[in-house]
Amino acid sequence: MTVSRGLFAVVAAWFAVLGCIEAVSLEVRQGNSTCIKADLSASFSIPYNTSSGRRTAQISLPNSTTVDAGSSTCGGGGLSPWLVAVFGSGHSLGLSFSTNGSLYSVANLTLQYNLSDAALFPDANSSDVVTVVSASVGIRAAVNTTYRCMSPTTVAVEDANVTFTDMRMEAYMPGNDLSPTESVCAADQTSTTAPPSTTTATTAAPPQPTPPGTPERGNYTVDNNGSLCLLAQMGLQLNVSYFSQSQNKTIQELLNLNPSLTNSSGSCEASRATLVLTQERMIALTFTFTMNSNTSKYHLSGIDLQANLSDPFTAGNDSLNYLQSTLGRSYMCNAEQTLQVAPAFSLNTFRLHVQPFDVKTNQFATAEECQMDRDQMLIPIIVGAALAGLVLIVLIAYLIGRKRSHAGYQTI
Ligand SMILES: *[C@@H]1O[C@H](CO)[C@@H](O)[C@H](O)[C@H]1NC(C)=O
Ligand SMILES: *[C@@H]1O[C@H](CO)[C@@H](O)[C@H](O)[C@H]1NC(C)=O
Ligand SMILES: *[C@@H]1O[C@H](CO)[C@@H](O)[C@H](O)[C@H]1NC(C)=O
Ligand SMILES: *[C@@H]1O[C@H](CO)[C@@H](O)[C@H](O)[C@H]1NC(C)=O
Ligand SMILES: *[C@@H]1O[C@H](CO)[C@@H](O)[C@H](O)[C@H]1NC(C)=O
Ligand SMILES: *[C@@H]1O[C@H](CO)[C@@H](O)[C@H](O)[C@H]1NC(C)=O
Ligand SMILES: *[C@@H]1O[C@H](CO)[C@@H](O)[C@H](O)[C@H]1NC(C)=O
Ligand SMILES: *[C@@H]1O[C@H](CO)[C@@H](O)[C@H](O)[C@H]1NC(C)=O
Ligand SMILES: *[C@@H]1O[C@H](CO)[C@@H](O)[C@H](O)[C@H]1NC(C)=O
Ligand SMILES: *[C@@H]1O[C@H](CO)[C@@H](O)[C@H](O)[C@H]1NC(C)=O
Ligand SMILES: *[C@@H]1O[C@H](CO)[C@@H](O)[C@H](O)[C@H]1NC(C)=O
Ligand SMILES: *[C@@H]1O[C@H](CO)[C@@H](O)[C@H](O)[C@H]1NC(C)=O
Repeated sequence: MTVSRGLFAVVAAWFAVLGCIEAVSLEVRQGNSTCIKADLSASFSIPYNTSSGRRTAQISLPNSTTVDAGSSTCGGGGLSPWLVAVFGSGHSLGLSFSTNGSLYSVANLTLQYNLSDAALFPDANSSDVVTVVSASVGIRAAVNTTYRCMSPTTVAVEDANVTFTDMRMEAYMPGNDLSPTESVCAADQTSTTAPPSTTTATTAAPPQPTPPGTPERGNYTVDNNGSLCLLAQMGLQLNVSYFSQSQNKTIQELLNLNPSLTNSSGSCEASRATLVLTQERMIALTFTFTMNSNTSKYHLSGIDLQANLSDPFTAGNDSLNYLQSTLGRSYMCNAEQTLQVAPAFSLNTFRLHVQPFDVKTNQFATAEECQMDRDQMLIPIIVGAALAGLVLIVLIAYLIGRKRSHAGYQTI
């Protein structure tokens, strides 16, 4: 009995070494479009109890693995994209994804195994279905690229281990096939035994933080009983610095809000309005506008940020005085503006246009422009005036010249 089990383990190990573990192809779809695709091999090492002591089951993800369409999801509506692969009798492997707009990652890995399955867990003294979760999986790649890792990668999931090999995977897919551009894992970049990549472009993983560029302009509104009561159009960039426990250093990070991943909500009262922007469980940014009813002027009085960066980050200030305008008007600033909120947090705004009070027929009222825009508007006026002056001088010179030459003809 023990000998045959030992022999089986050796054979299994050989198959693993020879790369003969089965590869599976998994796909999560919504309608006709694919949002998560994974081609991979996986093996599990799971300790369990028997009446005669502790044993470890070595299991590989079988060919017959399928995607559980019921629990898998492309996300949306507050849910994260989730790939749930089921195999055997009541076992499953789940991968939950998250993104910040430029990177996506496996937020957590869930392994569920059924100890009543005597074929995989012989002599188990429990018949429970056990679920274990790991939130540090270390799989991340740039959006619109395929994560590639041919080398074995082991993830510890409580006391079990999951080892992936020959992995090609993408979430938040722009098309129905894996993107040709790959983010290659660190192990593959150094490993000489990994099979050579057949693809064209490769990018480093994890990608180096590069400045994210100008943020896309979003269109955000707050709905009050069917009609819009707050309008905002703007590109937003967060500038945060925080101490990362995991990296043991202070990190300065620029984050662009991605409008297509951002939801807006809020509230409108006579003298106070809020706009809450949330991005995929990553960012919650709250703006508070205050109206002074004596002067009929309003301003942005508070900004509050909560962000799930590599470490949770919060910062806020409710005694600000930005974006001042008058009741019945909107506020506009096309130029980039920096709103300093707290020592560790400032907000850069781009092409901003807001109206938090007195919105009529879902449209912006006449705008009051920021000083920077007015200054910028002066430049074309000055240039125009200078040009007009130049034209005038040339014209006068020409007229004088003509008069002189006329005089010349007359003397002949
Ligand atoms: C899926 O594709 C089929 C045929 O191409 C089409 O008839 C159907 O409307 C599509 N469904 C969705 C949800 O896009
Ligand atoms: C196995 O038994 C030990 C005690 O011997 C216990 O601490 C542990 O939780 C058990 N593990 C499982 C998976 O039941
Ligand atoms: C299962 O086995 C472990 C150790 O092997 C033991 O500690 C535990 O009490 C057993 N549990 C049951 C329900 O028999
Ligand atoms: C666990 O395995 C047993 C035996 O194979 C099976 O009867 C049971 O339905 C499985 N449990 C689940 C949740 O699938
Ligand atoms: C896994 O991560 C997703 C998204 O971050 C979250 O919704 C889910 O609750 C997490 N699951 C567990 C078991 O932690
Ligand atoms: C990813 O691709 C989609 C569709 O091609 C595009 O709309 C989106 O901006 C891209 N995102 C990034 C971060 O490149
Ligand atoms: C919202 O509209 C409904 C019916 O249109 C009305 O009964 C209700 O009082 C309104 N609520 C507010 C807060 O205006
Ligand atoms: C981000 O903030 C830091 C510290 O306040 C500052 O030095 C840096 O210039 C800011 N970067 C941008 C792009 O606003
Ligand atoms: C963090 O870094 C400081 C100096 O940079 C060092 O003294 C300290 O030991 C580090 N802590 C950890 C937990 O690595
Ligand atoms: C996403 O996160 C990475 C690493 O934390 C960072 O370098 C990048 O700038 C972030 N991008 C956005 C758009 O937030
Ligand atoms: C950060 O993540 C936690 C746990 O997943 C979640 O409860 C919280 O709402 C998230 N915060 C933001 C700002 O999305
Ligand atoms: C809040 O903003 C005001 C005005 O910009 C500033 O004086 C104050 O120091 C800020 N408070 C905090 C806690 O950063």
